[in-house]
Formats: sequence, structure tokens, C-alpha cells
Amino acid sequence: MTQLDLAFVRSQFPAFAEPGLAGFAHFENAGGSFACRQTVETLDRFYRKTKVQPYYAFEPSATAGARMDSARERLAAWLNVPREELHFGPSTSQNTYVLAQAFRRHLRPGDEVIVTNQDHEANIGAWSRLQDDGIVVRTWQVDETGELRAADLEALLGTRTRLVAFTHCSNVVGSIHPVRELTDLVHRAGAWAVVDGVSFCPHGLPDVAALGADIYLFSLYKVYGPHLGAMYVRTELASQLPSQAHFFKGDALAGRFTPAGPDHPQIAAVNGVMDYLEAVATRHGHGGLAVPTRAAAVRQLFRDHETRQLRPLLDFLGNHRRVRLIGPASATARAPTVAFTVEGQSSAAIATRLAELDIGVGVGNFYAYRLLQALGIDTTDGVVRASFVHYTSQEEVARLIAALETLLS
Ligand SMILES: Cc1ncc(COP(=O)(O)O)c(C=O)c1O
Repeated sequence: MTQLDLAFVRSQFPAFAEPGLAGFAHFENAGGSFACRQTVETLDRFYRKTKVQPYYAFEPSATAGARMDSARERLAAWLNVPREELHFGPSTSQNTYVLAQAFRRHLRPGDEVIVTNQDHEANIGAWSRLQDDGIVVRTWQVDETGELRAADLEALLGTRTRLVAFTHCSNVVGSIHPVRELTDLVHRAGAWAVVDGVSFCPHGLPDVAALGADIYLFSLYKVYGPHLGAMYVRTELASQLPSQAHFFKGDALAGRFTPAGPDHPQIAAVNGVMDYLEAVATRHGHGGLAVPTRAAAVRQLFRDHETRQLRPLLDFLGNHRRVRLIGPASATARAPTVAFTVEGQSSAAIATRLAELDIGVGVGNFYAYRLLQALGIDTTDGVVRASFVHYTSQEEVARLIAALETLLS
């Protein structure tokens, strides 16, 4: 099957059968996706049957630990990275915060860190605060359209550059960056590349090994799963960074960047996300393939469906004389995270009117505060953001466009 079986996909999400949500069109997926059935069931099962301290020999403790281990193993395989290099933490913001504390002890005054002004603050603020310890923080600035240009990064890289933090896909601009090209550039300068994958991953978990990032972060609550952050950290880097765990834990890699006790049920519930992705693969005839090939096939199914739904929305917004569309007007260049402002109308008012029609869009600065400042957009009223994923139907997109047509006329 080459086209996404949308009826099958939607049957895997309890929200679409929930009477209380009948008629609601979800267009704030970049904030948080619906959870798939498998996530809800795994969480429920864990709480009912294995909600004890895991990893002891007694049952149900041993089973709880095994479920957590399998979650890590399966997600790592799907991302095409070794399981030892994948860690779970409470959220991406907390994960970057902890990693930055490790870098604080690792870097020397005068070393340089590059951040962008396009990213969510989670991948800017923690790194920027290193300047309190004498680290020089440089900003890779967006151009007047909000885009980052590789040439501008190249001009900032130098012999003291140690780390470059950028996003796979901005949660406002939406364009998908050529991550491999950029990580190669960063590595040629002798620096580490930290990539925020939060906005990209809901559209298909990537082959992280192929991207070449040294650190890759994303949030599972936007990928049909529980409220949890995941981070890949290359061993070569992890082993150089000082542990952030309790002192008596020594130099073990496991737990090095997760000082707090993890949320056991939520880690186990990542199995639900994996069960769902496996079910999509099997449904479309890709079940027997090797894991990276299976993952690539699912990614392509999602991408093709999303691109088809995205075109009419971009056509409408891109051609409306009062709309300022942020990011590319071409569906193939971007994720279906579509932010815009409207001349003469407040973003908050538009979002409220859409809410009255049972259409849920986001509004505000989405913590891409510095980006909105650079684009000259009021950071309080912000932008309207309509974001969707592979389970969104053509009818829902048509409904959004029709509502906007009326509101903006
Ligand atoms: C692009 C991007 N990066 C990072 C984050 C922060 O993720 P978390 O909520 O897991 O801290 C978000 C959250 O919305 C985001 O959209």
C-alpha cells in the first residue's frame, strides 16, 4: 500500500472516537499530539499491573524493568542508534538544561557556542547561560524571512567553536533543515552539533545516525506518546562530559544526564508508540523489512499524506493579500506547522473565533520569542499557528480553510 490508510490510522487514536471530542478539529499538534491507543493501553496496563519500583528480582518489579528496557531498545532501533546512546528525561527543556550543566564543566572560558534566534528557547536559553562562565555565545541569525542560511553559520564558525545548537525544523517557520549538511559543516570546524528534533519528529522519526548529530532531542508527547523527552548523545561526547548523576554512581553512561528518577510508567509507554508505528508498517505491507527500512517507509507514508493536505492550506494563506505567511509556501520544503499573522486583525482574536467553530489552533510566540522579535512580530499577540500531522484528514483541512476564508474576508 503506497498511500496512508487514514481510516486505519484514525482507528488507532481514541480521541477520534471520543464523544466529547466529536466535531473538534485538532490543529495544535505541534503543541501536543493525540496519544495513540497503544500508548494509553500500555500506560493503563503498567499502572494496573506493574506499578512498583522496577528492576528487582520479584514480580511485578522485574516485568516493569523489562518493559522499560524494551521501550528504550525499540525506540533506539527505530532511530537507528545504539540503545546505550538513548536517554529519557522529563522533557526536552529539562534535557537541554542538564546537558548544558555538563558542558559548563567541560568548556573553558573563551570557548565559543553558537545558538540560533530561530529555535524554541529550550535550545537557546540553556546554552546562552554558559556565558556566565566566560563562554562566548554567538547567534546564527535568521534572515528577513525567518530562515537560517548555512553561509551565515559558516561565517561564525572558528577555531574556538565547541558547540552549535540548531533546530531540525522550527516550530514557527516550519522549513526542514538539511541537517546532515549542517552537522558536516559543524564537524569540519571541530565542534559538536546539538539538534532539536521536537518539531520534526511528529512527522516521522528520523534515522538519527544518518543525520550526524552528536546530540538529538525530541519530545514523545508530540509523537503520540507520553509526556517524556528523549535524547540521543553520541558516546564519544557523553564519555567526555561530566556526569550529572549522584556522585556515587561513578562514570556509568546510563543515567549520566538524567539526575532525577525517571517516570517509569511513561518510559514503558514508549512501547505504545513503537507498537503503533509497527502497526502502521504492517498495515501497509512493510512489516517484514529491516527496522531502518520499515521506519523509512512509515516516514514516507506520513510525509506524502501530510504534503498532500498541506498544499491547499499554503495556497490559501500564501495568496491571501492580508496574510503574512511565515516560512516557505512550498509544501515539500516544510512541515505542516503553519504560522501566520493577518494585517489589521489580532492573532488572539482569530484563534478565539476558530475555537468558537470547534477548530483548535495555537496562538502566541511558542517560546520562539527571539524569532518573533527578529521578524518584528508582537511577541505577546504572536502568530496564529495551525499545525497538523499524518492523522489529519482532507475534510479537517478544508474546514479550517473555509473558516479562515470567512474570518479573513
Ligand atoms: C521546537 C521545540 N523545541 C523544544 C520544545 C520544548 O520541549 P519540551 O516541552 O519537551 O520541553 C518545544 C516545545 O513545544 C518545541 O516546539
